Amino acid sequence: MNTIISDETILLKGKPVSKHIREKLTSQINELKIKRNIVPKLAVIIVGNDPASQVYVNSKTKAFNKMECASETYALPAEFGESDLIEIIEGLNKDVSVHGILVQLPLPKSMNTRKILMAVSPFKDVDGFHPLNIGHLFEGHPKFIPCTPNGIIEILDFYNIETDGCHAVIVGRSNIVGKPMFGLLSQKLRKGNATVTMCHTGTKNLSYFTKQADLLIVATGVPKYITSEMISENVNIIDVGINRIEDLNSPKGYKLVGDVDFNNCIEKANSITPVPGGVGPMTITMLLNNTVISAQKTSIK
Ligand code: GUN
Repeated sequence: MNTIISDETILLKGKPVSKHIREKLTSQINELKIKRNIVPKLAVIIVGNDPASQVYVNSKTKAFNKMECASETYALPAEFGESDLIEIIEGLNKDVSVHGILVQLPLPKSMNTRKILMAVSPFKDVDGFHPLNIGHLFEGHPKFIPCTPNGIIEILDFYNIETDGCHAVIVGRSNIVGKPMFGLLSQKLRKGNATVTMCHTGTKNLSYFTKQADLLIVATGVPKYITSEMISENVNIIDVGINRIEDLNSPKGYKLVGDVDFNNCIEKANSITPVPGGVGPMTITMLLNNTVISAQKTSIK
C-alpha cells in the first residue's frame, strides 16, 4: 500500500486513506437510509466572495452529492448582518432534517467569528469548532473532532506511523489545525501519547525545535517554509499547506505547493505527504464522517 519513492522515503498519499474511509461511510449511509429513512444532511454557510472559500465549499457539496448525502448552501453577501446570520444558524439548529452546520472561514472582518461559531449547536458542529467540542477534545473525550487534524490521525494510522513516545513538533497554532492537533497527539488517544511541542510566529530559533521532531506537522500558510536544513533524518512530515505560487510553465499560470519544500526535504525524511494529494483529500472525508456520526445520533434522540 505504501508508495516508496526512494530507499527511505514513503509518500503518504491521502487518496487511499480517504477511499478506505469512504467505503465504510457508504455502508453506514445506506444503513441509515434503509433502516431509518435518514439522509445525512449538511448546511453550509458562506459569507462574501473569497474565491478560495468558494472552491472549498463547491468541493464539499460535490462530495456530499457523490456520497448520496444531502447538502444546502447559504451563499450570503459580505455585508450580510451578523444578527441575521445568527438567526439563520438558529433556524438550522432547530431543523431536524439538518445534521451538520458548517460556517466557512474566514468570515468577513466585520463579523465576530467567535460569536457566530458559538451560535452553532454543539450537536451539529461537524467542524468541531464550538468551544464545547474543543473542551471535550482537550478533556480527552472528543465528540466532533476538527476535520483536518482528524484526517491527519487517519493518515498516521493507515501508514502505521508511530506516535507513542515520539516527539511531535507542530508549526502553527491555528484553531483549525495546530491547537486541535496538539490536543489529539498529546493525549492517550488513537495515534496519540506523543510529547508535543507547539511552535508559532513567536518561536525563536524554529530550527532548534523542528530538528528534534520525529513527527513534524506544518500548518503555517507560508509556501516552502520548512527546508531540509531545518529537519533531521528519518522525520515523518505532514504538510498541511496548500499555496498557489506562480508557474509560467503551467497552463493555469500557477501551481500548488505546501508549507514544506518537498523536493528539498524528500531525501532526508522517512515519509512525507505530497501537496496536492496528501492531507487535502482527507478534510472533506472527515466532514462526511462527522455528518454521518451526527445523523446516526440524531436518529436515536
Ligand atoms: N476554512 C479553512 N479550513 C476550514 C475548515 O476546515 N472549516 C471551515 N468551516 N472553514 C475553513
